[in-house]
Amino acid sequence: MGKGKLEKFADMREYPHVFEYPYSVADNVPFDMKGSWNRDFFKNDHPIVLELGCGRGEYTVGLGRMYPDKNFIGVDIKGSRMWTGATEALKECMKNVAFLRTNIEIIDRFFAPGEVSEIWLTFSDPQMKKATKRLTSTYFMERYRKFLKPDGLIHLKTDSNFMFTYTRYMVEENRLPVEFMTEDLYHSGLVDDILGIRTYYEQQWLDRGLNIKYMKFRLPQENELHEPDVEIELDEYRSYNRSKRSGLKTSK
Ligand SMILES: C[S@@+](CC[C@H](N)C(=O)[O-])C[C@H]1O[C@@H](n2cnc3c(N)ncnc32)[C@H](O)[C@@H]1O
Repeated sequence: MGKGKLEKFADMREYPHVFEYPYSVADNVPFDMKGSWNRDFFKNDHPIVLELGCGRGEYTVGLGRMYPDKNFIGVDIKGSRMWTGATEALKECMKNVAFLRTNIEIIDRFFAPGEVSEIWLTFSDPQMKKATKRLTSTYFMERYRKFLKPDGLIHLKTDSNFMFTYTRYMVEENRLPVEFMTEDLYHSGLVDDILGIRTYYEQQWLDRGLNIKYMKFRLPQENELHEPDVEIELDEYRSYNRSKRSGLKTSK
């Protein structure tokens, strides 16, 4: 039988590559690796890549295997999900993978200016009601700017038409350079080893027949960012609870 939540939490407390700083303790527990992840933890000067809302950390671990010359940090607030990727990385003795358990709202407390090269957003909650909570809103772009290298890369992989459309408007409104974009990754013939990594949520959406969308864009440091003023059709399937979703037929 698999481990329960409490056992996973206990494991996480002992893991040398897991750092736990949820908002509730972040004010009281000093974090002294801001600006020195490479020197103090990874012991190299390789580029740092974050997966925000990493869940079980499929991208963090999968990319870590593919790119030993880059460092990967999975970030999420849910420790029991993160345990899966953290345990895999530990078993494989991966030296280029770490996990940070915190709220993404305070992510800029953990990284210094220019410390991060790339960000992956994998199946992030679209937060259709509140742009301030949406991980591709300008509110978050402003936070990312505080620690992303100039013209750092942001990857968005999503099932959500709302999230994808919103992000496209956000990118257009702010003239952010787009490197690549597809609304139907798996029927485009463009899937490579990187884009072929499937996350837990991704597989659920694929099983329901949804198309997976992907976008890669750069975030320059210059220019004030403006929120797009647009009305976007909501994703209907997200208003169902999980049991109803399972039987849901979705159009492609
Ligand atoms: C829909 S799940 C996707 C998980 C994983 N990337 C996947 O594709 O399977 C979204 C994840 O983001 C995390 N998350 C959402 N908002 C967050 C926030 N503000 N701070 C930290 N984690 C957050 C949730 O805990 C959850 O694990």
